[in-house]
Amino acid sequence: MSNRYTITAALPYTNGPIHIGHLAGVYVPADIYARYLRLKGNDVAFICGSDEHGVPITIKAKNEGVSPQDIVDKYHAIIKQSFEEFGISFDNYSRTSAKIHHETASEFFKTLHDKGEFIEETNEQLYDEKANQFLADRFVTGTCPKCGNEEAYGDQCENCGTSLNATDLINPKSAITGNVPTLKQTKHWFLPLDKHEAFLRSWILEGHKSDWKPNVYGQVKSWIDDGLRPRAVTRDLDWGIPVPVEGAEGKVLYVWFDAPIGYISSTKEWAKRVGKDWEPYWKDKDTKLIHFIGKDNIVFHCIIFPAMLQAEGSYILPDNVPANEFLNLEGNKLSTSKNWAVWLPEYLIDFPNQQDVLRYALTANAPEAKDNDFTWKDFQARNNNELVAIFGNFINRVVVLTNKYYNSIVPTPHDFSKIDEETLAAVKTYPNVISSSIERYRFREAQQELMNLARLGNKYLADEEPWKVIKVDEARVQTIMYIALQIASALATLSEPFLPFTSGKLKHILKVSSSDSTTENRIEKSWNDIATKSVLMPSGHQIGQAELLFSKIEDEAIQEQIDKLVASKKANEAANKTVDPQKDTITFDDFSKLDIRVGTILEAEKMPKAKKLLVLKVDTGIDVRTIVSGIAESFTAEEVVGKKVTVLVNLAPRALRGVESQGMILMTENEEGKLVFVNPDDTSVANGLKIS
Ligand code: 2FM
Ligand code: ZN
Repeated sequence: MSNRYTITAALPYTNGPIHIGHLAGVYVPADIYARYLRLKGNDVAFICGSDEHGVPITIKAKNEGVSPQDIVDKYHAIIKQSFEEFGISFDNYSRTSAKIHHETASEFFKTLHDKGEFIEETNEQLYDEKANQFLADRFVTGTCPKCGNEEAYGDQCENCGTSLNATDLINPKSAITGNVPTLKQTKHWFLPLDKHEAFLRSWILEGHKSDWKPNVYGQVKSWIDDGLRPRAVTRDLDWGIPVPVEGAEGKVLYVWFDAPIGYISSTKEWAKRVGKDWEPYWKDKDTKLIHFIGKDNIVFHCIIFPAMLQAEGSYILPDNVPANEFLNLEGNKLSTSKNWAVWLPEYLIDFPNQQDVLRYALTANAPEAKDNDFTWKDFQARNNNELVAIFGNFINRVVVLTNKYYNSIVPTPHDFSKIDEETLAAVKTYPNVISSSIERYRFREAQQELMNLARLGNKYLADEEPWKVIKVDEARVQTIMYIALQIASALATLSEPFLPFTSGKLKHILKVSSSDSTTENRIEKSWNDIATKSVLMPSGHQIGQAELLFSKIEDEAIQEQIDKLVASKKANEAANKTVDPQKDTITFDDFSKLDIRVGTILEAEKMPKAKKLLVLKVDTGIDVRTIVSGIAESFTAEEVVGKKVTVLVNLAPRALRGVESQGMILMTENEEGKLVFVNPDDTSVANGLKIS
């Protein structure tokens, strides 16, 4: 039965390109789901667009000395292109600066306003006297009152996910000037979330206890249990959608008020373009509305937006919000500002036409139930050991042998053996097994099952060995190859949601894509056909020539990526490096009191039970003396013997762990925290490091 689905994927902020975290958390799972539903014959609207308002964009524009419009125009184009290049099959990708969105969001606000759904209130908000501006959202940071994170934003703490009002922050600080804000009176419109608490409780806490993911349900429950409060939906900013009521000059809609309405306006834009009616996709109770988001967006999609939709009165509510946790990169949090990321445009330069490899590796490691880590080594292994060695190898064998033995024509099978029967029966179970995982939003598991089907094919060929049997029993090989081709055909269809480019290529090789088959002779299969049709690829059908679906990724290519990350880490550390301020000026007389000599370390041994200390015997030219030096974490005793060093020889002796130290070796600490002797050939030490 065909059902109607409205599938939304979080509207990305247009303040930078898209990275692997975005793909893994939101867009690849949403795309798998949308493609799958279409293959099952459902009526799907897969909706997204750029989120072009909000403070991050204004901040980026300020930093770059350009207008917010310049920023959104630039990144909207880049992001849209990345989505297209990675095969994210949106039916519509809009932007919140579009006229249709401004109209839809304004109208939505007015409806709630006219229905009396807002509280209008003048109260004190944070204000930056120096920047002459109210501070909300990302314009202000401070300590989260819930978890103590010192970098929480004025609307949300990204550490614990709590939704905040800027005035909740402890020790707030302006992100524009660094100033401590003052308080200033201003009027705003508030959505009284507390008024919607009973509805949210029964709809989510009672209605979706078993079908929403535990991470989503748990977060929502804890917010509701903490008590919901009115939330301002307007801001004193000049970038955004003007508040469309009287007495609101100079104010705009809060970005999180307008952004989710962007799903509706993008649907309207799509419907107009393809000649459909948008309303059933948002208002018919038989439509299933599914929001794909990252965990930092849960409160907005599960509490605030549903409260808005409910208050408006004519909309359906989401059926599910399968939010993912976060993806880390090589053990560290992905970060745009720290350039700790794999950016999609850069990936495609380094791995051209290998979109499916990234899609595959990200799904295999998707942060579905907990945060997960992407590593380049894992990426390489997924490609080489799974895509190349299992999927690619199976298809290549089938096609090459069919080309060779049968001039590319699917042979006619003879009697099936028990193994043949079992294999064909096993193939038929895959659509349902994969469906069941996808429908529970378990995309990793679903993809593993797809790979199991390729494994089944590989094993079948390895066990049946047609390349050997051909010498003794040609008829048997016809049957083996016929069965292998049925598996290849099933893979071409079932891989489409996960590996759309590979599926397309495979359909082309097997000559089963719509463009290769005539209408009368349509052999491109739908999802359901795989389980129900006894023949997937008929005898007599001619396939094309073998082409490699995947190719091995060498160690060098992986090392290059790791080096790139190391370089960006270093650059970042250098940019964040703070040089100690200069101490008070001293006179030449003060300086001449220091007696600094060249010396040589003659002996060294570790001080027992002291992690940091080495006991050195140093020839200072004056004498050979004992110096206790805190360098044991950077050097072994053997390493320092024979080294020339600079020694402050007239420092008053002092006892360290009972050993009298008669001077000090002068050293510095490099950016990795390692102590180093300063010498003119050492380029690893930066200017400004203190010698002590
Ligand atoms: O977190 C973000 O990137 C937001 N721009 C997501 C918005 S989702 C939606 F509601 F529009
Ligand atoms: Zn917090």
